[in-house]
Amino acid sequence: MESVFLLPLLLLVALYLRGGSPEHEWIQSSPVPSVTSATFWVRLSPELHAVPPGGSVWLNCSHSCPLPARSSLHTQLRQGKTHNGSGWVSYQLLNVRAWSSKVRCVVTCAGETREATARITAYRPPRSVILEPPVLVGHKYTLRCYVTHVFPVGFLVVSLRRGGRVIHFESLERYTTSYLANVTLTHVMRAGPNDLLQPLTCHARLNLDGLVVSSSSAPVMLTVLALSPAAIALASTSIAAVVGVLLAVGTVSLRKYRALKTQL
Ligand SMILES: *[C@@H]1O[C@H](CO)[C@@H](O)[C@H](O)[C@H]1NC(C)=O
Ligand SMILES: *[C@@H]1O[C@H](CO)[C@@H](O)[C@H](O)[C@H]1NC(C)=O
Repeated sequence: MESVFLLPLLLLVALYLRGGSPEHEWIQSSPVPSVTSATFWVRLSPELHAVPPGGSVWLNCSHSCPLPARSSLHTQLRQGKTHNGSGWVSYQLLNVRAWSSKVRCVVTCAGETREATARITAYRPPRSVILEPPVLVGHKYTLRCYVTHVFPVGFLVVSLRRGGRVIHFESLERYTTSYLANVTLTHVMRAGPNDLLQPLTCHARLNLDGLVVSSSSAPVMLTVLALSPAAIALASTSIAAVVGVLLAVGTVSLRKYRALKTQL
């Protein structure tokens, strides 16, 4: 007797579980737009903007508050001039030196506070990536790669490749300068006769929280002339071993650039 009643009940539960969840979502989300449309909006534009390091930008914060509203900008960046009209204020931000900055515009209207956010980024892909012709000193080749005018240097990885394969790389995350930098990567290696056929290249890669900017040098070959008989004899017994690494961020050129900046 009981099972007869139980069966339709179970079916009903199953139907509810299947069809119920999308309906439940819809019921939950529907009142939200009607609430927001009754209140005012705040907009900050542009929402995302890239400037050259040290550059400035104007951000426009607008709102739909019909009453006189209070608006303010919150940021770590230096603020300059402002302009305003009815329902908007335009803010100037100066000397952007942080690679990524968040900016908030907070507006209060009839006792209610809302905000809009924007992000300002500053970076500069290398102006040039130059791999010098290898210099043979003793039995070793010195490779020197110059990466110029790059920012932010702390997000830079410089690598050397032979025949497309990475033979050495350096990450510069310990350098936190907020100025454009010239980076010189020096790498010393031994080479065998087989290495004469493989082009060497230098690669600079900025990885800015997912935004990847890469540039590479023109390929350079080890010259036969540079490979002395002594080096060939040596190379035949030892295969392309990494001997030493030198890395330097030119502090002299950095200082020069600072001096240049103050003139601008
Ligand atoms: C700021 O935005 C408002 C609303 O979109 C616009 O009317 C105003 O002209 C803008 N001001 C500037 C300086 O761009
Ligand atoms: C960086 O290197 C370039 C090319 O060698 C040079 O012209 C420039 O003066 C240097 N700039 C800085 C900022 O060090």
